[in-house]
Amino acid sequence: SRMGIESPVYWDPFDPDIARDPYPVYRRMRAEAPVYYNDVHDFYALSRFEDVDRALLDWQTFSSAKGPILEIIKADIEIPPGTLIMDDPPSHDIYRSLLSRVFTPKRVLSLEPRIRAYCVRSLDRLAGLDQFDLMTNFANEIPMRVIGMLLGIPEDDQQTIRDKADHNLRTERGKPMQVPEDRSIGNPELFADYIDWRRDHPADDLMTELIRAEFEDVHGVRRTLTRDEILTYVNVLAGAGNETTARLIGWLGSLLAEHPDQRAELVADPSLIPNAIEETLRFEPIGHAIARYVTTDVELHGATVPAGSAVTIIVASANRDETRWDEPDRFDIHRKVHQLRTFGMGPHFCLGNALARLEARVALEEFLQRFPVWSVDRDVLELSSTSTVRGWAALPITIG
Ligand code: HEM
Repeated sequence: SRMGIESPVYWDPFDPDIARDPYPVYRRMRAEAPVYYNDVHDFYALSRFEDVDRALLDWQTFSSAKGPILEIIKADIEIPPGTLIMDDPPSHDIYRSLLSRVFTPKRVLSLEPRIRAYCVRSLDRLAGLDQFDLMTNFANEIPMRVIGMLLGIPEDDQQTIRDKADHNLRTERGKPMQVPEDRSIGNPELFADYIDWRRDHPADDLMTELIRAEFEDVHGVRRTLTRDEILTYVNVLAGAGNETTARLIGWLGSLLAEHPDQRAELVADPSLIPNAIEETLRFEPIGHAIARYVTTDVELHGATVPAGSAVTIIVASANRDETRWDEPDRFDIHRKVHQLRTFGMGPHFCLGNALARLEARVALEEFLQRFPVWSVDRDVLELSSTSTVRGWAALPITIG
């Protein structure tokens, strides 16, 4: 480009260099290209707070029927019925209300003592160490145990299940996610044996409740879930609840190391922890963008997004929109964090948000009690960034 003339804004969600600090790019998109088009990967992007809300609320125009992940939309994969996160009302609402009936706030809250016990067990193993990787030794461990106990997966099998479930989401650095050759998503058979086993050995867990739950299906027929429908739920929960929450704990680890004064406040007054988690969710949201498929032409800011396009809705940009937030690029655990978009909005608003917040709170409470001071070296940290989840692949920390 010629001297003095800025090149047009460019955003590539698969570019690892942009992913390290995408916020200046989002700022330019909000200002210069509110309806951004990327011709390399052929998708549109919305970055302003009000456009993010508009798109997430208008499910008729911005459909989830092809999934909420850019690569999956573009691959045009056939989605099994009941895949909640890849479905539109009215069918979506039937499956969502069934899950909300068994995945209640009361059930979530009742998990707190067991979550705390898992945290204590992990952290006790780290006592006395000067250095360790916060991700493998702590952050990755907790959500896996929690999902495992929710779904009734025996403890010895949880790691295997997690490795296999995560394998789906792996991408090569700087490349879009590869859609498997058989075009299957999730690992449909991964949990099948547990469902069959649970049917004969009911317990006080979510799996048992899914097996027993009666509902009225799309045809108005009252029945219980089929094995395939239960499998789909289990896959969605394992896929949505593991890596996301682990990455959140990782961001707490790096952001608090980089803001030692605010960390000291949390150590002195743990009642500030929940708000610090809200601010972390705003400042470094785990998934930066949610994708949709446009069903009809959309006119926006003088541009047309044609029917059939894939659109990414950048919640990470909404969380830093200067028209909505005061000094959005400042990390402040005292900030009043209203209008967070990290968990989405509208019909697909994250069903696990209370669980993720609970796990992060308990994890941080227990961690700060044992390790009030630690440091990280951001220059050596490796970021893992896919179109769905962004966080530390490893987070080596030094205690003291
Ligand atoms: C949906 C984020 C943790 C279960 C969503 C959506 C987002 C999100 C953005 C909406 C996707 C869309 O609109 O297409 C997160 C983040 C988490 C987290 C950032 C952690 C920090 C969890 C956990 C669970 C969970 C722990 C459950 C164990 C779900 C489910 C949906 C969902 C079932 C689908 C809801 C629907 O389609 O109606 N999540 N999530 N999430 N999440 Fe989470």
